[in-house]
Amino acid sequence: AALRDLNTFGINESAEQLVPVETEQQLREALALADAQGWPVTVLGGGSNMILAGPLAGLVIAMRSRGRRVLSREPGSAVIEGEAGENWHQLVNWSLDHGFHGLENLSLIPGTLGAAPMQNIGAYGVELCDVFDSLDALDRTTGEVCRFDRDACRFAYRDSLFKQQAGRFVILRVRLRLSTQPVPRLDYAPLAAAWSVTGLSRPDSRVISQLVCQIRRSKLPDPAQLGNAGSFFKNPLLPADQAAALLATWPEAPHYPQPDGSVKLAAGWLIERAGWKGHCRDRVGVHREQALVLVNLGGARGADVLALAEDIQRDVQAKFGVQLEMEPQRVGG
Ligand code: EPU
Repeated sequence: AALRDLNTFGINESAEQLVPVETEQQLREALALADAQGWPVTVLGGGSNMILAGPLAGLVIAMRSRGRRVLSREPGSAVIEGEAGENWHQLVNWSLDHGFHGLENLSLIPGTLGAAPMQNIGAYGVELCDVFDSLDALDRTTGEVCRFDRDACRFAYRDSLFKQQAGRFVILRVRLRLSTQPVPRLDYAPLAAAWSVTGLSRPDSRVISQLVCQIRRSKLPDPAQLGNAGSFFKNPLLPADQAAALLATWPEAPHYPQPDGSVKLAAGWLIERAGWKGHCRDRVGVHREQALVLVNLGGARGADVLALAEDIQRDVQAKFGVQLEMEPQRVGG
C-alpha cells in the first residue's frame, strides 16, 4: 500500500500491509494478526514526524479513532478527552469553541492527538505537558490498557516515555486539562509583538490562535504544498561552559538558559550561519524562511533527506562543535 499521502514529507514508499483502525477492538485484532504472522508493526498517526527511509515491512496500523468530549468541569477548569485519531488542530478549534483556554499557542500543528504526547509537541512558549491530564495506552508487552498521569509520561523537551520506548505503547486516548478563563502565554517575543499590534486590552484566546497561525504560515511550509516534517532537528541543549565558550565567539546567537543551568541554542540559527538556508539539491532542500525545516522539492526519497541531514550535522559539528539531533523518527528501510 502506498504511503505517500500518509506522511507529511510526501515520501513515496510503501507498506507491506496497511490497516486503518477506528476502535480498540480493531487495534487488538490487527496486533493479534501481526503477532500470528510474525509481522513487525508500525503505528501511524498523522505521519507528520517521521522520515520513511525505505519500504515498511510487516503491518502499518493507521490510528483513525475519532471522538472528543468534555469529561468533567470544575471551577476554573475542565478536562477534555479525545481519541487518538482526532486531528490536533481541529481539537484546538473545538476546545476554543467550547470556551476553553490553553491550546491556542499550539494551533496549526500538523498531526493527531494520539501522536502529540509522543514527542510532547510544543510551540510559542507552550508544551503539551503544560495542559496534559492523562492518557490511556495499550501496553503491547502485556496486552493491558494502562492509564498514565503526567509524571508517568516522563515528558521533557520533545521527549516522553512513549518516544523512549518506541513500539511498546499504543496511545488510545488523551485527556487535557484546560482553563475556563483566558491564560494568555505571550513569552514568545514575536507573538507578544503581534498581540500588542492588535491593540486589544482583554486577552482573547481566539485572536492568539489566529496570530499563531499567521506566524506559523509565514515561517513553516504547508505540507500540502511542500512536503516537510516541521523542525528537522531539536534545538540543542549545551552544558553551561560549552555554551559560554560558543557565545564568546558568537554573542549574537539566540540562546535560552534553562532552569538546570544548561543553555538551549537555536538550531535554525546554527544551520543558517553555516550557510545552508535555502540550499537545494537532489529533490530536497532547506526551507528559505526557516533553516530548521527540510523540504521535499518533489519526489524526494528518504535517503536524499537523510544524506542532506547528515551533511548539515557534520558541518554544524565542524563549525560550532554542536551535535544536532534529528527530531522526526526514522522508519523503514
Ligand atoms: N533562526 C535563524 N534562522 C533560521 C531559523 C531560526 O536565525 O533559519 C533564529 C530565529 O531568528 C530565532 C531562533 O532562531 O531567534 C528561534 O527560531 P524560531 O522562533 O523560528 O523557533 P525554532 O527554535 O526554530 C522551535 C520549535 C518549533 C516551534 C517554534 C516556536 C523545535 C525543534 N522547534 O523552533 O516547533 O514552532 O520553536 O515555538 O523546538 C516543530 O517541532 O516541528 C516545530 C515547528
